[in-house]
Amino acid sequence: NSNQMWGGRFASGPDAVMDAINASIDFDRALYREDIEGSLAHAEMLAAQGIISDEDHAAIRDGLAKIEKEIEEGTFQFSRQLEDIHMNIEARLSALIGPAAGRLHTGRSRNDQVALDFRLWVKRELKRIDGALAKLIETFLARAEEHAETYLPGFTHLQTAQPVTFGHHCMAYVEMFGRDRSRVTDCIERLDESPLGAAALAGTSLPIDRHSTAQRLGFREPTRNSLDTVSDRDFALEFLSLSAICGMHLSRLAEEIVIWSTPQFGFIRLSDSFSTGSSIMPQKKNPDAAELIRAKTGRLNGALITLLTVMKGLPLAYSKDMQEDKEAVFDAAETLDLMIAAMTGMVSDMEVRVENMAAAAGSGFATATDLADWLVRQVNLPFRQAHHVTGRAVALAEERGVDLADLPLADLQAIDPAITEDVYKVLTVESCAKARTSYGGTAPDNVRQQIAFWRDRLKNE
Ligand code: ARG
Repeated sequence: NSNQMWGGRFASGPDAVMDAINASIDFDRALYREDIEGSLAHAEMLAAQGIISDEDHAAIRDGLAKIEKEIEEGTFQFSRQLEDIHMNIEARLSALIGPAAGRLHTGRSRNDQVALDFRLWVKRELKRIDGALAKLIETFLARAEEHAETYLPGFTHLQTAQPVTFGHHCMAYVEMFGRDRSRVTDCIERLDESPLGAAALAGTSLPIDRHSTAQRLGFREPTRNSLDTVSDRDFALEFLSLSAICGMHLSRLAEEIVIWSTPQFGFIRLSDSFSTGSSIMPQKKNPDAAELIRAKTGRLNGALITLLTVMKGLPLAYSKDMQEDKEAVFDAAETLDLMIAAMTGMVSDMEVRVENMAAAAGSGFATATDLADWLVRQVNLPFRQAHHVTGRAVALAEERGVDLADLPLADLQAIDPAITEDVYKVLTVESCAKARTSYGGTAPDNVRQQIAFWRDRLKNE
C-alpha cells in the first residue's frame, strides 16, 4: 500500500503520523478550482504542442469537468493518503478516464502546480478585497458629504487640539483605504507571471509552450527563472503585508468607534444591527464589531510573521516547509474580508450626533491656536510671543471655568492691550474650522473638493 502517485520505489506505506503531518488536503482543497483551471490550460497546451493526443486531451478535459462538479456537489471523496489537492484530483481523474490521466502531469511538477494554484487564488482574493475596499470608500464619501460642516474636536495625544470637520476625519480614512487599494494593485502587478512549466525546479526537456499557458490563465507573461519560480512566495507575503497594513487602519478606526460610542463622548450611536447588549446590565450597548475588528488585526499580523518565518533561510528551490504557506493566507483573507464588511456596515449605519460633536469641539480651548494666529495676523506679534499671550488667556479662562470666547474684552486687554473686539470672530468653532483652507486642510470647502477628487478617481478606474 505505497503511494499510488510516487510509490514506485517504496516497499511500504507511511506511518499514520507521517500522513497526519504530511497531508495538506484538509486545507488545500480550497485550491480545487485553481488546480483544475491550471490543469485544463496545461492539457490544452500539451495537445497543441503534439505532446499528448487530442483524444487524451478530450478525456482529460471531460474528466476534470466531472471532478469539479463532484467537488462542488460535495460527492468527491477526499483522501489524506493522497496528501494534497493535486494528487487527489489526479487520482480521481485516473479512476475516471484510465491511463490518459497519467499523461496530464507531463512537463509539470507539483512544485510549479502549487505555485500556480496559489497565485491564481491570491490574485482572485486581491480583486475581491479591492472591490470591498472600494465599497468602504464609497460609504465614507457619502458620510463625509453629509458631514462636511459637522464640527468635532480634532485630537493629538487624544487631547483636544483644534476643531475639525467630521467630513475631513472621514476623508482621512478614505486616504488610508485608497493607499491600501494601491498596494493591492502593486501586488497584482508583480504577481502577474505564470509559474506553470517551471516544473520541479529546472524546467523540462519537453517542447512545452509556457507563453500560451500564461496567456490562457490570464497572466501577463511566464516567470523567467524556474528555480525562483518554485521557491518564490513573495506574492503571498505581499498579500499578507498589505492585509496587515489595511487591518492596522481598520483597527484605528475601530478604536475611534469604541471611544466615540461611549456615553462620555457620545459622538456616534451604533445601529442596533451593529452592536450587542449585556446579559446583566440592561443599559448597555456594546461596540462588539469594532472591538473584534480591533482584535482580528492580531491574526493578520500573526499570519504575516508566520509566513516570513516559514520562508526565512529556506535554500533554493522548493522545500516542503512551503506547504505551511496556505493556512495563514487563507485565514488572513477570510478575516480581512469580514473586517471590511463589518466596518462598512457599521460606518454606513452609525448615527452621527452632530450636537455632541459640536459641543465637544467648543470645549477644551480648541480655539486657542486661532487666538494666537489672530495675534500674529492682526497685531503682528511673533508667533512665540502670541503663543505666550494666548497661554495666559487660557490659564485665566481655566481659572474661571469658562471658555476663551467668554472672557470679557477688558480681561483680554489686560493680558495684551492690542487685542480688540474683532478677536471674538475667530474664537468660534465654526470660524476656526472654516478658516483652515490651506491645501489639505479641514475647511468644509476643502472637504468637498477632496470628495470630488475621490469620486472622480473611482469613476475613472
Ligand atoms: N502540497 C504541496 C504544497 O503545498 C504541493 C507540492 C509538493 N511538492 C513536492 N515535491 N512534495 O507545497
